[in-house]
Amino acid sequence: MSHPDLFGDLPSDGPATQAAAQPESPAARAAQLRDSLHHHAHAYYTLDAPEVPDAEYDRLFRALQALESAHPELLTPDSPTQRVGGQVLDAFAAVQHRVPMLSIRTETDTEASGAEAFDTRIRKELGLAASEPAVQYVAELKFDGLAMSLRYENGVLVQAATRGDGETGEEVTANIRTIGQIPLRLPLDAPAVLEVRGEVYMRRDDFEALNARQRQRIAAGTKGEKTFVNPRNAAAGAVRQLDSGIAAERPLSFFAYGLGDITQATEGGPQWTTHFEMLQQLKVWGFPVAEQTSCVNGSAGLVAFHQRMAAERDALPYDIDGVVYKVNDLALQARLGFVTREPRWAVAHKYPAQEEMTTVQAIDVQVGRTGKLTPVAKLAPVFVGGVTVTNATLHNELEARRKDVRVGDTVIVRRAGDVIPEVVSVVLDKRPPEAVPFTMMTHCPVCGSLAEREEGEADHRCTGGLFCSAQRKQAIWHFAHRRAMDIEGLGDKLVDQLVDSGQVHTLADLYRLQQADLANMDRMADKSAVNLLEALEKSKQTTLGRFLFSLGIRHVGEATAKELARHFGQLDAIMVASEDALLQVADVGPVVAHSIHTFFAQAHNRDVVQALRDAGITWAEGDALAPTDMPLAGITVVLTGTLQSMGRDEAKEKLEALGAKVAGSVSKKTHYVVAGAEAGSKLDKAQALGVPVLDDAGLALLLTGEKP
Ligand code: IVH
Repeated sequence: MSHPDLFGDLPSDGPATQAAAQPESPAARAAQLRDSLHHHAHAYYTLDAPEVPDAEYDRLFRALQALESAHPELLTPDSPTQRVGGQVLDAFAAVQHRVPMLSIRTETDTEASGAEAFDTRIRKELGLAASEPAVQYVAELKFDGLAMSLRYENGVLVQAATRGDGETGEEVTANIRTIGQIPLRLPLDAPAVLEVRGEVYMRRDDFEALNARQRQRIAAGTKGEKTFVNPRNAAAGAVRQLDSGIAAERPLSFFAYGLGDITQATEGGPQWTTHFEMLQQLKVWGFPVAEQTSCVNGSAGLVAFHQRMAAERDALPYDIDGVVYKVNDLALQARLGFVTREPRWAVAHKYPAQEEMTTVQAIDVQVGRTGKLTPVAKLAPVFVGGVTVTNATLHNELEARRKDVRVGDTVIVRRAGDVIPEVVSVVLDKRPPEAVPFTMMTHCPVCGSLAEREEGEADHRCTGGLFCSAQRKQAIWHFAHRRAMDIEGLGDKLVDQLVDSGQVHTLADLYRLQQADLANMDRMADKSAVNLLEALEKSKQTTLGRFLFSLGIRHVGEATAKELARHFGQLDAIMVASEDALLQVADVGPVVAHSIHTFFAQAHNRDVVQALRDAGITWAEGDALAPTDMPLAGITVVLTGTLQSMGRDEAKEKLEALGAKVAGSVSKKTHYVVAGAEAGSKLDKAQALGVPVLDDAGLALLLTGEKP
């Protein structure tokens, strides 16, 4: 493991050197530990390239903590142990900014032309003729957090202040020390006084994790906890925490983008003449600078950056609300100067907002192609993320209740990129007193069939199956599938047209189609129509397994359908089978048995089956397996571990062929557990329940039809 040894040489991009021998004096040891921790914090938080495991960092951290509590005089304001917070304030102290924190002019035109307008203005103010070369700019991201001024004196972070009104901010040093990305001390070549300006923000993943934790706390009944509307609010809340221990629990990040107060550069120290060079120097001193920050030329360069970032915006791990353009040359910046509180040399070029407020006019329930019921908030139209949004999915009842969205509520809607618009949260202050919680309906809003939510599932589903018109298209498409009824030429698009035009209401209607009906469909040549009719005719001769699969009964896949056909032999037997009888089929568990039973219990599903039979669909019916005649009928076996004589699949097949049921888990109803090498919990359970355990020899005996 590599330990850094970096007295006065922090932070470094180079590899950490071997640790020096452990110093004798506590003061030297504390200094060495601080150096190591500073180095590792920079590698971890800012460079995203940790050099040691977390546990090693923790070990160094605890060593320093122990040393500081034994020798309190060794505690320095730049000690990494001061990052954990703990200070509780009554109020924040006011901080007079020595160099005002300016705001920035916003270009209202969110199109690319906004960038051109800025360049035109700059050229005019600088008196540049059209023939003169392009102005160089630095293009940056406009981070959606809050502005912060970090003051370093003699290389140590002594004060962090919010912007406030630009003249006077609030001192939030203890909270800002908890941000791992912010250096607590600077290398020796930094000016005696340096104020770094930048944005404190919260990453989206950190925000999600924080809100998940907040929800748990609320659920556990912790008083005074709430979730946050967006990362910016969460960041602002954390920065303005009077208890820095709480701030330390809220993961914040930082990007540097400018300077405030600064003393003359030291002789031989770093110099810069452009904004970009200054940012590079801040990076060298350990401050995070966004990698997207670019030097570009003229309006074309600005427009290209604006477009590139618009495309990358949603993939960034944090929110931006636009980009910022700054004249690169500091001498030109000085010439341009300021108007009131805004520099003439910079502009913010925004993107359309991704979050807006609107009201919920209704909550409709839509039925999807698979019968899933989805509550959808009907919104007063709102322009967000570049489009007008009138609907936002609430996903399911649990989600709608978790967000507690009610008709009449004012909500925050978010649309990022191509992502489906979402209700982020409710503005509770604006809730009308009569608003009632949302409840999912008990019946399908389209066909009136029972709507059910299965245990452990979030979604309600319409049980109407083929009867429900909303599910019809999907059902027809599935019916026609190559592995189902195999109707070649009946694709998605055609199904949509047939249903939308009212030609096909039920599956059986497919078999009533005439060439004239098909002639009216888009992209349907005579030849294709003839082919389709032939495919329909051909599909009438099928197998029971295919037919069962084609009905699209939930949980009944191709293999289960075949197994049902093999087991029962005849459709009528399946249609009247009890759940218990269905459970006898290999691979059919309680969920599947329930689904099959419910499907055939509904008269309209039976009608569909009858109509299809009437349309001429036939198959060769077989005899049901006579389970009681088979040697291992009624016997349930569980296979576990590695068998020597054969693979588990082979054993399963052989056992089933003799009428045994092979189950996946051991219960009191299990007759035998066949255990091979390295059998685990199933063997334990068998022994606990007193179920007989067989080895390879026992299995061989069982396969002769004899019960050991
Ligand atoms: S420069 C002299 N650069 O936007 C210009 N500001 O009013 C001072 N912001 O709240 C600001 N990203 O916190 C600058 N790359 C960036 C920025 C940025 C976000 C914020 C800043 C302030 C507002 C500007």
